[in-house]
Amino acid sequence: MIAIVAVDRNYAIGRRNSMLYHLPEDLKHFARTTRDKVLVMGRATLESFPGGKPLPKRVNIVLSRNPDFKRDDIVIARDFAQLKDLLMPYQDEDVMLLGGDSVYHALIDCCKSAIVTKVDAEAPADKYFPNLDEKPNWELVSCTENMETGGYTYRICEYRNKRILPLPENESLFGGQT
Ligand SMILES: NC(=O)c1ccc[n+]([C@@H]2O[C@H](COP(=O)([O-])OP(=O)(O)OC[C@H]3O[C@@H](n4cnc5c(N)ncnc54)[C@H](OP(=O)(O)O)[C@@H]3O)[C@@H](O)[C@H]2O)c1
Repeated sequence: MIAIVAVDRNYAIGRRNSMLYHLPEDLKHFARTTRDKVLVMGRATLESFPGGKPLPKRVNIVLSRNPDFKRDDIVIARDFAQLKDLLMPYQDEDVMLLGGDSVYHALIDCCKSAIVTKVDAEAPADKYFPNLDEKPNWELVSCTENMETGGYTYRICEYRNKRILPLPENESLFGGQT
């Protein structure tokens, strides 16, 4: 899997189930990078999209433990074991991990890389991405020059995981904040 995220100086990613910043050029980058891909996300992230709708032309796999959460426009995984089964047919493809906070924290070490938009700003937040600069198994591979969008300065950086873990069978192995 490949994680894709936009973080600010504090690795903050969201507040009140919304994004922190409107970044038009980064949204285009996000659309290009995820086009035709298989996406994995938590139920709250799906609901944060416009109209709570899945992203078109992509396979949207959504994690939810709630048996009453049923929809026919997405694929639902009730736990990581089910997610693993659902991802079997896509082993040779780049599956994108879309967040949010809980899903990133649980699965980041199962990703081979992370595409991190770093916004040079800070804002009140209640959701965060793991700080990859502090995780010994992750290394920074590259960063673009500073770019501007929506009044913000940002760079897009790529991180690589030197020790990729398999998807957990049992979420008690993971799940905590790192
Ligand atoms: N800046 C960015 O790039 C970015 C990207 C994505 C999201 N975000 C932000 O992140 C925030 C959302 O993050 P979040 O942590 O609140 O929510 P989330 O991770 O998107 O979704 C949490 C939900 O996913 C389900 N879930 C999580 N782990 C599961 C597991 N092991 N098995 C089954 N279901 C599982 C549960 O759904 P049920 O409650 O239905 O059981 C849980 O309540 C929003 O503010 C959003 O805007 C930002």
